Amino acid sequence: MAHFLGFGGYVPEHIMTNDDWSQILDTSDEWITQRTGIKRRRVAADDESTLTLAADASALALKDAGLIPEDIDEIILATDTPEMYTPDTAALLQDRLGCRNVPTYDLGGSGCAGFVQALDVARSRIAFEPKKILVVGVELLTRMVDWKDRATAVLFGDGAGAVVLGPDGGRARLLDVVSGTEGGYAGILTLASGGTRNPFNAKTLESGEYNRVIMDGRRVFTEAVRRMSEAAAEVVERIGRNVSDIAMVIPHQANIRIIDAVRKRLGIDEDRVYVNVHEYGNTGSATVPFAMWEAVRSNRIKEGDLVVLTAFGAGFHWAAAAVQF
Ligand code: ACO
Repeated sequence: MAHFLGFGGYVPEHIMTNDDWSQILDTSDEWITQRTGIKRRRVAADDESTLTLAADASALALKDAGLIPEDIDEIILATDTPEMYTPDTAALLQDRLGCRNVPTYDLGGSGCAGFVQALDVARSRIAFEPKKILVVGVELLTRMVDWKDRATAVLFGDGAGAVVLGPDGGRARLLDVVSGTEGGYAGILTLASGGTRNPFNAKTLESGEYNRVIMDGRRVFTEAVRRMSEAAAEVVERIGRNVSDIAMVIPHQANIRIIDAVRKRLGIDEDRVYVNVHEYGNTGSATVPFAMWEAVRSNRIKEGDLVVLTAFGAGFHWAAAAVQF
């Protein structure tokens, strides 16, 4: 079984408020707050990148675990906004942290569910061999989205979260994970260009497709609520427990209305759901590990607590994990 040995998180210093967005786009604090619950988000500085965000969060996770980079046996990094297409950000992170030449890989394109899926991969690696694995969720979305599109730009922020998993010890155990994918919905939330189908070129630059996010917000909303609540309930059932046993749900932070609907479907009180979407917006695969780090260090999670992580994103992918502190 995989154990959580350490937690880390990082967000850039610069805060961008809804009012700041309304200076740039035809939007308002009222619209963004009512529809999403988001009040502000962090925006990476010019000298920051996906790699530096990941490295800052990872360094804290290593410190929290009482480990040095040489102790890490593998790195799995979930992101949709990599440092570059090739090589993967995990390889760059290995060098940056000063790890040994251990295997590394990105879980790319799995949207906001990437980190929880990465936990699933990591635990199976640990079951096979008793390794210490650094698992990271990181996103620098503000640099990749279209700042002229009010329907998507205001939703996102930048950040990173990291954990170190190992075969024993630590503060929590990863009891189980459920995950799924419905590839038929790929076109509902995707990027208009950048791959082999429609590469970046002069044409995509001219048409504005080079940074266009294609999103059917309402379909995403409906599916996110359904999949996140069902996955959370399923993982609790699989470990032989009830929803009433959950001390804290840490859901993907996309939108307060999605979080509230998931909570109501699960039938649990507000004080048992961790929410920080108002502070950071949607930081993609970073929301869950960053929120977990915040919840641990602010003592919102106590020894003995059953915590459920649940996430949903482009793909569509979804995943939920049961964690016993
Ligand atoms: N400011 C002001 N008006 C806006 C803005 C904005 N930033 N964005 C859109 N509008 C307008 C639209 O143009 C539309 O105008 P119209 O009625 O004149 O056509 C109107 O607001 C209403 O738009 P709706 O799409 O009906 O708004 P809705 O209530 O569905 O909220 C939202 C939109 C917030 C995107 C919602 O659908 C949502 O959160 N969906 C989930 C999407 C999501 O979270 N994506 C992130 C990635 S996936 C994930 O993390 C799960």
